[in-house]
Formats: sequence, C-alpha cells, structure tokens
Amino acid sequence: MWAGQCGGCGDWNTLEEVVVRATPKSSGGTARRGAGAPARSVPLRDVTAPREERLGTGINEFDRVLGGGLVPGSLVLLGGSPGIGKSTITAMALGNMAGSGRQVLYVTGEESVAQVRMRAERLGEGALSVPALAETDLGSVIAAIEAERPEVCVIDSVQTLHSAELSSAPGSVAQVREAANGLMEVAKRNGTALVLVGHVTKEGAVAGPRVLEHLVDCVLLFEGERERSYRTLRALKNRFGATSELGVFEMRSGGLVEVEDPSARFVGEATAAPGSVVLCAMEGTRPLLVEVQALVAPTEVVPPRRVANGIDRNRLAMILAVLSRHGGVSVGGADVFVNVAGGVRVDEPGADLAIALAVASAHRNEPLTDTDGKPLACFGEIGLTGELRYVAHAERRVAEALKFGLNPVLGPQIKDAPRGMDMKPTLRSALGATRKGFGVARAAA
Ligand code: TYD
Ligand code: MG
Repeated sequence: MWAGQCGGCGDWNTLEEVVVRATPKSSGGTARRGAGAPARSVPLRDVTAPREERLGTGINEFDRVLGGGLVPGSLVLLGGSPGIGKSTITAMALGNMAGSGRQVLYVTGEESVAQVRMRAERLGEGALSVPALAETDLGSVIAAIEAERPEVCVIDSVQTLHSAELSSAPGSVAQVREAANGLMEVAKRNGTALVLVGHVTKEGAVAGPRVLEHLVDCVLLFEGERERSYRTLRALKNRFGATSELGVFEMRSGGLVEVEDPSARFVGEATAAPGSVVLCAMEGTRPLLVEVQALVAPTEVVPPRRVANGIDRNRLAMILAVLSRHGGVSVGGADVFVNVAGGVRVDEPGADLAIALAVASAHRNEPLTDTDGKPLACFGEIGLTGELRYVAHAERRVAEALKFGLNPVLGPQIKDAPRGMDMKPTLRSALGATRKGFGVARAAA
C-alpha cells in the first residue's frame, strides 16, 4: 500500500518500504515460548577478557580519539559532511598502516580507483601502497574481505553499498543497516577492524548512517567549516575509550596535518576587539583555549536573529535571557551572532561566561582585555538566577591560559582557587570586573 504521509511525525515522503522475510514456522503448529534448550549464564568473574590489542593508525590525534588505536574486530563509524576530509584521513591512516606492514583494504563506492589514486598521490608514498577496490555490491565486498583477510578495512562510504537481496535504494535505512550487519559479521569472524565512512549533513537530515549508531562500537564525527582549514575529530560513542577527546587537524595541500598545540593557534588568532573573548574550555583530558566572538547589530527584524556557530542555540537563548534579566545587558532589538573561531564546537556549560561576556562586549562596543591588554580569558557556567557556577578542571583551564600569558582568568568561585584566577559569584559581578566596566558596573560606580 502506498502512503505518502507518516502517521507518526506528519512528514511527507519519509516512509520507506521494508520487506520482511517470512520466518519458517516450527513444525508443531504454534511455537511454544521457551521451547528451546535453556541458554546458560556465566559469572562475570569467570569470563576471560582478552587483552585488547590496538592497531595504531600512525596519526596521533586519530589514535587518541579512538582511545589508543583501532581494536581488531571492531566497527567504527566515521561521519561527517561531504568534503570535510573523511576519505583523506582514512587514506592516510591506511597508508601509514600499510607502510608498517599491516594488511589493509580500501573499498571505494563513491570514487573510481583512479580518483582514489589521485588523492593518494597528494598524500605520499605510503598511501599509494594501499590496495583499493571499487565495488558497491555488498556480497562482493564481504567476499573480498573473506578472501583478503585485511587487518583494517575502510568502506567509503557505507551509503553506496547495496545488497541485491533488498529492493530499496542504496543509502536507504534498510540497505545501510543490512550492509552494516553483514560487514560486522565478517569483521568479527576475521578480526578485521572495520571503518565505515558515512555522510551526515549538518542538519542530520539524511537518515543514513545515524541509524547505525547503536550497532557500531565507536562513532566518530569529523567536523569543521569547509571553507576553513581546521577540522576537529571527536567520538560521540566509544566502547573502548572516552568520548570527550578532541583531535584537531588542519587541511593542507599534502593532506591533514595534526595541530598539536591548538590553544597556541587559536589564541594567536584572537583579536581582543570588541566582542572577542578567550574561553578556557576542556576537551576531554585536555584544556583548549578558543576564541568566542559575538556581533550584536540593531535590527528591524522581528524576532531578531540569533545565530550560533559552534555552540548550542538554546544555550545562547538562555544566556541572552540571563544577561538581560540579571546582567543589565539587553539585546532585545538586535541580531546576535556568536561564533567559536576555527570552526570548533564547544558543548560544555563552562562556555557560558565567555558567550555572555562576548555578547556584552559586542553590545557596548568595548574590547575586553586582561591587565596587559591581552584578550580576556574566562570560563564558568551561568545559572538561571545569574550566579556563576563551578565547572570541573579549573586548575587546568587556568594553567593553560597562564601558559599563554593571559592573566587573570575570570571564573566562578571555587575552593582551593588556583593562582591567577579572578573569582566572581555572579554574572553581574563578572561584568563589573572587566576592565572598562560596562553596564551595571558603570551604573553602580
Ligand atoms: P575528502 O577527503 O575527499 O572529503 P570527504 O571524503 O569527507 O568528502 O577531501 C575533501 C577536501 O579536502 C577536498 O575539497 C580537497 C581537500 N584536500 C586538500 O586540501 N588537501 C589534500 O591533500 C587532500 C587529499 C584533499
Ligand atoms: Mg570521500
């Protein structure tokens, strides 16, 4: 039966036909529940867990985000928007591994092997020694993995594979799921570490690879602005490591280059102009200084625009409300744009204060600087009553700022405050503490 509208969400043309294969009925007519032999449970203490071996990719940042390298027999989903560099990073990793004598396989469904070779030429000798296979038929790919038994195999991309047994189009939910299941089986059997590349649009609109998230062991997201050269790699899910690690790369003419000290880059690019603030963020175990920029421009548009890049939109709305209610900075009649420089995403409450100060600074058109005229560094969560709240790893955040000569660091009140920190209980007092003192502070003076 054809149906155009989903009864669940009301969207049009989102329904997809899934052919359900008939399961054979048991001979005795209606199957009795629990008819089979009972499965036996084992005390966990008696289970021998094999020590995980790790396959290093030769790319430190990649290995760190993975939790120490690829795990044999595991399934990794590498998502990202088109053109971000998924094929590049996987080709580089395979090249390094082939170079160190590992058996690898690169399956391309999107590009011809000639196109893959052209990319490999830019990446160097190692990448050229990777065996490549242009194939989109799932059965053939599985057979190739069985035959070649690679230690690491990249499927670029999972959306291009299709199984002849299903009638739906390649890239559809049913096909993507079938492909992942089939590949997982063969990967587990042969101990092959499998990397599935998947396209995810910014809006997450394509159903494609996200349906695999529960299936795979590890979900990595490769992000950045295509026009800019910085790329970040993070884990959304990781059965073998933390999910908070962040790898920073730069896309150059010879491939991706690891940015080993991203704080230095981002602070070096910070301007100390009105609307610019340095945020002491934490990315996993690592402190990271990033520049948060804001622009506040009067507008006739109702409601005014709120544009957030690199931070959560709802968080921005909340911060603007607190700024107006408890900070004396009202931007009701203005468009507000907030951007984290370098295309980095900061998804932590510790970013609140930096966002608020950047907006306030832009609103008053006054730069925020530390005592030496360097960009102001800060961190802290903002509560709904305008209080500044404690966030974890204060010492590491402050130490990172001091390393770059940013002093003092504005933040919430914490016990055992590290040196170099200027602690304030509320957003209002933090606004007052900034050198020029705008809004409330000036009114109070
Ligand atoms: P690509 O890995 O093909 O992206 P994806 O597989 O995610 O779609 O690379 C995307 C862009 O990177 C492409 O526009 C060209 C650029 N690029 C470089 O700048 N330097 C390089 O060395 C390579 C290989 C690509
Ligand atoms: Mg690609």
